[in-house]
Amino acid sequence: MSTMVVWFVFLAIMFLNNAGVTGQADDTGFVSIDCGLAGNSSYKDASSTLTYSSEEAFIDTGTNHNISAAYVTSTLSPHYLNVRSFSNGTRNCYTIRSLVKGEKYLVRATFMYGNYDGLNKGVIFDLHIGVNYWKTVNISNPDKRTIAEVIFVAPVDYIQVCLVNTGLGTPFISSLDLRPMKNSLYPLANSSQSLALQHRLNAGPTDTTIIRYPDDPHDRMWEPWSNYPYWTEITTSSHVQNVQNDIFEVPSVVLQTAVTPVNATPANTSELKFFWLPDPPDKDPEYLANLHFSELMNLTKDQKREFNITLNDAMFSPGPFSPDPLYANAVYGFKPVHGRQQYILTLKATANSTLPPIINAVEVFLVLQVSGILTDSADVSAINTIKSQYQIKRDWYGDPCVPKTYAWDGLNCSDAVSGSPRITVL
Ligand SMILES: *[C@@H]1O[C@H](CO)[C@@H](O)[C@H](O)[C@H]1NC(C)=O
Ligand SMILES: *[C@@H]1O[C@H](CO)[C@@H](O)[C@H](O)[C@H]1NC(C)=O
Ligand SMILES: *[C@@H]1O[C@H](CO)[C@@H](O)[C@H](O)[C@H]1NC(C)=O
Ligand SMILES: *[C@@H]1O[C@H](CO)[C@@H](O)[C@H](O)[C@H]1NC(C)=O
Ligand SMILES: *[C@@H]1O[C@H](CO)[C@@H](O)[C@H](O)[C@H]1NC(C)=O
Ligand SMILES: *[C@@H]1O[C@H](CO)[C@@H](O)[C@H](O)[C@H]1NC(C)=O
Ligand SMILES: *[C@@H]1O[C@H](CO)[C@@H](O)[C@H](O)[C@H]1NC(C)=O
Ligand SMILES: *[C@@H]1O[C@H](CO)[C@@H](O)[C@H](O)[C@H]1NC(C)=O
Ligand SMILES: *[C@@H]1O[C@H](CO)[C@@H](O)[C@H](O)[C@H]1NC(C)=O
Ligand SMILES: *[C@@H]1O[C@H](CO)[C@@H](O)[C@H](O)[C@H]1NC(C)=O
Repeated sequence: MSTMVVWFVFLAIMFLNNAGVTGQADDTGFVSIDCGLAGNSSYKDASSTLTYSSEEAFIDTGTNHNISAAYVTSTLSPHYLNVRSFSNGTRNCYTIRSLVKGEKYLVRATFMYGNYDGLNKGVIFDLHIGVNYWKTVNISNPDKRTIAEVIFVAPVDYIQVCLVNTGLGTPFISSLDLRPMKNSLYPLANSSQSLALQHRLNAGPTDTTIIRYPDDPHDRMWEPWSNYPYWTEITTSSHVQNVQNDIFEVPSVVLQTAVTPVNATPANTSELKFFWLPDPPDKDPEYLANLHFSELMNLTKDQKREFNITLNDAMFSPGPFSPDPLYANAVYGFKPVHGRQQYILTLKATANSTLPPIINAVEVFLVLQVSGILTDSADVSAINTIKSQYQIKRDWYGDPCVPKTYAWDGLNCSDAVSGSPRITVL
């Protein structure tokens, strides 16, 4: 029996290598998939300069559709023009194989319905990352763009992103990106917890330009954020430096803009206030927030900008805080917060401050607990080889045994009492 397993594993490695030929990571380690793009093609996206390719190498289920012409606009990113949809099976998965176990990555999926099926209907489905629940995607507006992103540590040398049909319509996807992250970044993403993005906002700009690669070498997407006419923008053309061992590496172009309250007299009583709501409220998600700062004005000796940061009345900054001129500063939570109906951040000038508070960027993450339990990796390789050798056309996608609800039909798995579940019967 053990020789059988070895033989299967050997075949599986050959199979994986072959699959790699048709396109996995590029030189930067980026994988950029335009889901629904017509067979085996690729193009260079003009705004990000990245090459997007079709999904052959990553998935073998689903059908391609173009969105309805009614939703095509000249400013729409090309990856939204077409989608891949999954009318068959409960769990359909993309498999990206170029990962290094134990390294950190960002994965991002985007969705725009664009009435691709002509039904003009909303849809709700779940996203899983590996064997873990990630997010419920709720599409109710045909031209709304939904972005799901998670920063995670790879538990094995591949990652699966699965779309799970929960009986509320046909899952679909517009694009899927994988970006390697340095392990030193986002230290609160580790092998036992992942960080799912709720907001990533670039304070200042009143236009609609999203900042991403090449301005952000990690290709995070920074959405413009302003509160006109209550906030006003402060900008600089000087470069804003990251600090040594910066754990966020927010790009200069994001930090070069900030906001401050318009009505700030007297400055030493002024406030900047903003909030987010738990989503979904019934699940009481746990949140972490990162606030990014840099002083952009050339302060004189007599000027001082100092403020306290509170989260729902609890101190969020360790004490009164003054951003450093033209250096990236971050104030961030270590301990997730939960159990509130809303999360209010208040930046309040101290009595000695002669200038109102500012903020340059904000990130809010939902903490996802990671179940490290996957089906035994040799069994996964073996069963995938059997599946491809025998061209098995069953609803066999994602991890064979985990989670139990979506275990492959026709297999029996041992319970994961200790260690990984094994495939016991085929
Ligand atoms: C996809 O295109 C590449 C380059 O054009 C080619 O080398 C490869 O054989 C094609 N693969 C398939 C499955 O058509
Ligand atoms: C989508 O449109 C492109 C050209 O714009 C066409 O080549 C392709 O076949 C269309 N795909 C589908 C699924 O209709
Ligand atoms: C769904 O499954 C049926 C039966 O296996 C197959 O004939 C059909 O082509 C599949 N449809 C899609 C969209 O994959
Ligand atoms: C989906 O979104 C719609 C519109 O925003 C909302 O009314 C509905 O409650 C949401 N459904 C779920 C299950 O979250
Ligand atoms: C991940 O980070 C959390 C929060 O700091 C910590 O409680 C947990 O022990 C860490 N897990 C690992 C595997 O380091
Ligand atoms: C700030 O002002 C001082 C004195 O005028 C000047 O030397 C310095 O270059 C200025 N710094 C910036 C960042 O503008
Ligand atoms: C700011 O926080 C300090 C304690 O860290 C406190 O003494 C001071 O009163 C606070 N100031 C304001 C304006 O809230
Ligand atoms: C604000 O500053 C003014 C003058 O600099 C001072 O008189 C006043 O007491 C300060 N306000 C507070 C709340 O400390
Ligand atoms: C305000 O400044 C004075 C003089 O520098 C200092 O003694 C005092 O502690 C400061 N107050 C606060 C609240 O920081
Ligand atoms: C496999 O599981 C099915 C359904 O739970 C059960 O009926 C069957 O007896 C199991 N087969 C073996 C050999 O354990």
